[in-house]
Amino acid sequence: MASVTGLEGIVAAETELSFVDGEKGLLIYRGHEAKELALQTSFEEAAYLLWNGKLPGDEELIHFRAQWKAHRVLPAALKAIIDQLPAKSDMMSVLRTAISAEGAADGTSRAWPPQPEAALRYTAMLSVIIAYRYRQTEGLPPVEPHPELDHVANYLYMLTGKLPKQAHVKALTTYFILAMEHGMNASTFAGRVVLSTQSDMASALCASIGAMKGPLHGGAPSEVVHMLDEIETKERAEMWLRQQLSSGQRLMGFGHRIYKTFDPRAEALRIITTGLAAEDPWFELATLVESVAVNLLHEFKPGRKLYTNVEFYAAAVLRAVSMPKTLFTPTFTAARMVGWTAHLLEQASCNRIFRPQSVYVGTIPG
Ligand code: CMC
Repeated sequence: MASVTGLEGIVAAETELSFVDGEKGLLIYRGHEAKELALQTSFEEAAYLLWNGKLPGDEELIHFRAQWKAHRVLPAALKAIIDQLPAKSDMMSVLRTAISAEGAADGTSRAWPPQPEAALRYTAMLSVIIAYRYRQTEGLPPVEPHPELDHVANYLYMLTGKLPKQAHVKALTTYFILAMEHGMNASTFAGRVVLSTQSDMASALCASIGAMKGPLHGGAPSEVVHMLDEIETKERAEMWLRQQLSSGQRLMGFGHRIYKTFDPRAEALRIITTGLAAEDPWFELATLVESVAVNLLHEFKPGRKLYTNVEFYAAAVLRAVSMPKTLFTPTFTAARMVGWTAHLLEQASCNRIFRPQSVYVGTIPG
């Protein structure tokens, strides 16, 4: 049988966008520690940094915020396409279809290289698409964007129709910044491969959204909630986790290709969630499950260095801000749009088509 490498350890590109030190548990965005940015800046400022290479000055930020808000409107033709999708369509498929439709409609599908304005437009639009579709499937009337609110607060507002609590905006902003970029992960790589053929940004984003959807990548947080729902009580935790591992199942929210220690994003999200949900019995159960799971992973997979990853506490934060479970992966996607589009712009600036090789291990005729 062919040996499966998953391209582990292969360098696919040079990037100025982020650095992940898996041994030390360090994540840097363009020279700034992501954890610090997450606690101190707005999502808009962090996005500006990734797209432009520096944090914005006061005037630049005012202009940038205004540009961002101007892109929150969904064209009527796009809404009509979303409206036609069956109610049973999952949200990630809706997002992939909507970005594809918008790419077909905007007339830039053959433009090369992709422009920074498109990065902002698709990012601003994606959260609005999620809110529009979510309310539609819930039988609720759509909510117009709030002109005073920034991206993350506006996302919560458009989902619920209510002004969000400040603590929820703060927690979700932390999550958005920590989730926005993470080096050459599967979805980013998928997008860069498509763009390297001199294809357009929408096509590349469709590939990224498709990759993000899988449970081994962006689909993990809702699986974490599912796991905790099944465990139900603290008393059942060890037995349930042991059974999973004994039958060869993976525990969602644990393990990472790069991090061989605690994922720094998980640590920052745990701090935020503790402040929000310390009294919540679900969170108490999550904390217990985490420590039992890490011990059992060491017992079942000695030497594998399996620790909690970002998705475990992403689930906790998203639950604490009352995000519906069906929107966990879409919300991760809304944040990651910044990283994807930054990578696409970077790929275009130094492009060479990706063309790895495979080793034929089949039979040769004759
Ligand atoms: N539970 C149990 N065993 C695990 C887990 C886990 N969560 N993760 C890895 N292992 C085992 C795996 O079975 C293998 O054991 P063995 O060598 O005995 O066959 C060993 O650890 C090494 O695993 P691997 O398959 O080489 O790991 P990978 O780098 O290919 O996969 C991963 C990384 C994240 C897909 C994997 O750890 C996993 O499936 N985790 C659960 C899903 C999850 O939480 N995904 C979110 C990842 S963080 C968001 C992101 O960056 O995308």
